[in-house]
Amino acid sequence: MTETNKRFPEGFLWGGATAANQMEGGFHEGNKGLNIADVLPGGKERLKVLSEPGFNFEIDHSKYTYPNHEGIDFYHRYKEDIALFAEMGFKAFRLSIAWTRIFPNGDELEPNEEGLAFYDRVFDELHKYNIEPVVTISHYEMPLNLVKEYGGWRSREVVTFFERYVNAIFNRYKDKVKYWMTFNEINSGLMMPIMGLGFSIQKEEDKYQPTFQAFHHQFVASSIAVKACHEIIPDAKIGCMIIFAPVYAFDSNPENQLYALQEERLFNYFCADVQVRGEYSPFIKRYFEQHNIDLKIEEGDLELLKENTVDYIGFSYYMSRTEKKHKTDEDKAHGNILSGIKNPFLNASDWGWEIDPAGLRVSLNKLYDRYGVPLFVVENGLGAYDKIEEDGSIQDDNRIDYLREHIAAMRDAINEDGVEMMGYTSWGCIDLVSASTGEMSKRYGYIYVDKHDDGSGTLDRKKKKSFFWYKDVIATNGENL
Ligand code: BG6
Repeated sequence: MTETNKRFPEGFLWGGATAANQMEGGFHEGNKGLNIADVLPGGKERLKVLSEPGFNFEIDHSKYTYPNHEGIDFYHRYKEDIALFAEMGFKAFRLSIAWTRIFPNGDELEPNEEGLAFYDRVFDELHKYNIEPVVTISHYEMPLNLVKEYGGWRSREVVTFFERYVNAIFNRYKDKVKYWMTFNEINSGLMMPIMGLGFSIQKEEDKYQPTFQAFHHQFVASSIAVKACHEIIPDAKIGCMIIFAPVYAFDSNPENQLYALQEERLFNYFCADVQVRGEYSPFIKRYFEQHNIDLKIEEGDLELLKENTVDYIGFSYYMSRTEKKHKTDEDKAHGNILSGIKNPFLNASDWGWEIDPAGLRVSLNKLYDRYGVPLFVVENGLGAYDKIEEDGSIQDDNRIDYLREHIAAMRDAINEDGVEMMGYTSWGCIDLVSASTGEMSKRYGYIYVDKHDDGSGTLDRKKKKSFFWYKDVIATNGENL
């Protein structure tokens, strides 16, 4: 490999990614209201809650623990954490704003000053070290009041509340934040409506109409945010954020090829088509007809979507997905959160997520070919158990290998395939609460946090081996992997 094709572009945004509900804690402080993440139980129970119909959105301390309430206490320790990110040389730090810090119930007329002031302090601290904040406006943390009183994103009224929220944060942070994203992993609402769309499906067969109506409201809300962002902060960039997992056909059987294509169009492209191209695709319109979905689209909605498309695509990449039309239970890759069947060529993580660095290069190519807008990998990483050695160190070579191979895949997509990329913020740069299982033991960080699944621990921070490795990657702009 020559020196030139080892390079990442100048100004590439290296960093790490997090979400408010998984790390801040302080769930009752600063007048913050309750959000969805605050009522999600910890441990494997959570996945059950997320994937089965009928969740009631109540806290029940007699049955469950609630790890997000304390998170990793970033709310009080942000200065220490940001100093560690700076020591690694971060150029960017992805975080989300908790909507309920700004509008505790979601439907107030005026924002909560204490919440606004908290993020002022965080952004100022980041700028002290020349770290660009990359802000997700809504990351699985819808105000609980909007869920209970309005039915989450099923309600059109929520669009108005969201508009108030984005106007408040764009006006307040216009000089501090230049990179924004609207809804985290918006397409995840297809499989986990609780976190993404703010409601629980009551009966499997009734899911289509409310799900896609809620998506329509989110698309309208997203376009309103894009429009407001462009008006209030003309030098900012605002993106969408999707989960992308390329779908491979299990074999060359044309039936399986077609099935993989259809799954890909629905899960991977449906949302980005609307947010990047500004319209519902012919495929999805047919899908609506086939499932008797009759979207209520208000006058002006379609023009709004068309005229206010995003500037870039942010996406998370953890795994690929392999599919065949007729699969048995035995074929299934059970750990993979995105279902699919086992891929005989891939190994899986401690949590059964299949590891596929080449799949990241495939994803970058597919997205760039289809949309031609800059791409930002805003999540990627290995959730794994960490072991503290006798000398106190954490030798997370498995994490380093994982990251090295994925970063090499991006480098090749840029240099060999001509893909345009803005940056890379690996997920959970500091250990935090897992979104799907509420566990602390599923660790992604370069920085270890002494907190355990049972809630015990000092919350002390400790640098892992990967901390020093990533620091060198950033210092050499990706040349030393
Ligand atoms: C993404 C989410 O799905 O994956 C994050 O945007 C999440 O919030 C991350 O934490 C990893 O998933 P998990 O379940 O291992 O935390």
